[in-house]
Amino acid sequence: MTDRFNALVASLRLPAIAAPMTFISTPDLVGEACAAGIIGGFPTSNASSIAELNEWFEQIEMRRAASERPAGPIAANLIVGKQNKRLDEDVDCVVAQRPEMVITSVGSPAPVVQPLQSAGCLVFADVVSEAHAHKALSAGVDGLVLLSAGAGGHTGWANPFAFARAVRAFYSGPLVLTGGMSDGAALWAAQCAGYDLAMFGTRFIATHESNVTTEWQAALERCTMDDVTLMTAPNGVVASGLPGDVGSAGHTISAVHSRQSVADVVDEIERGWQEAREVSRRLL
Ligand SMILES: Cc1cc2nc3c(=O)[nH]c(=O)nc-3n(C[C@H](O)[C@H](O)[C@H](O)COP(=O)(O)O)c2cc1C
Repeated sequence: MTDRFNALVASLRLPAIAAPMTFISTPDLVGEACAAGIIGGFPTSNASSIAELNEWFEQIEMRRAASERPAGPIAANLIVGKQNKRLDEDVDCVVAQRPEMVITSVGSPAPVVQPLQSAGCLVFADVVSEAHAHKALSAGVDGLVLLSAGAGGHTGWANPFAFARAVRAFYSGPLVLTGGMSDGAALWAAQCAGYDLAMFGTRFIATHESNVTTEWQAALERCTMDDVTLMTAPNGVVASGLPGDVGSAGHTISAVHSRQSVADVVDEIERGWQEAREVSRRLL
């Protein structure tokens, strides 16, 4: 499994995932992320029906197939909490579609790990604490996504550097950081801290391919991280909010200045990542 994961990471242009985002992630956004050579994530619940979910997978696969560079894989996101009344049907659909990666969030991955792994998916669980990490590993997941402080949407509270080091003390497998990824320098820092991959959410809200509303986009351009507040979402989970309740964004909002294409965002992240690696070479 670790060999397969390492091969997957090595095949990417950047060790990055376009984060799954409720309402925001569209097949266009995911397809463009994959075509740009990174992993494209989306919550299966963004599709309004199983028929539409199947269509989304097909649409993304078509975009991947037309990509000029080696396309990144798809990461389907399953919300495994009680609020997902369609979970069983979504799992059946994902098992049939067999994306390379599945990320579970908001609940225990235990009920879905076995069918997804049997279908060949690498199963990652979103966790916010050491206790959650232990539980997810006991359930047999292939890797962990550490949800850290300042993330957009449902946020964590742990410092991402401390979180990585705490988990690395008992786990040497695949580790993904989510929260706080503003640019390529942050991505390189995440790798140095012990993460194999990192997810970018807010940066991809402000793209032409996302489902962002005009008010939300305006807030993304106007606000900085100082405007991001913690609030309790309807399901009781702590989330990052913006003034006027126009939508969510993480601390990385300070890196958003305009609406860009997904391809341009990935190009920009890559440039920053290369520059940061050059800085490391000089420091060494
Ligand atoms: C509007 C919005 C919706 C989100 N929806 C989901 C979701 O459905 N499932 C999930 O696992 N994470 C969700 N997230 C969290 C992201 O996957 C990711 O962890 C987060 O955006 C990372 O922080 P950043 O926005 O600062 O990059 C959402 C985030 C945002 C901003």
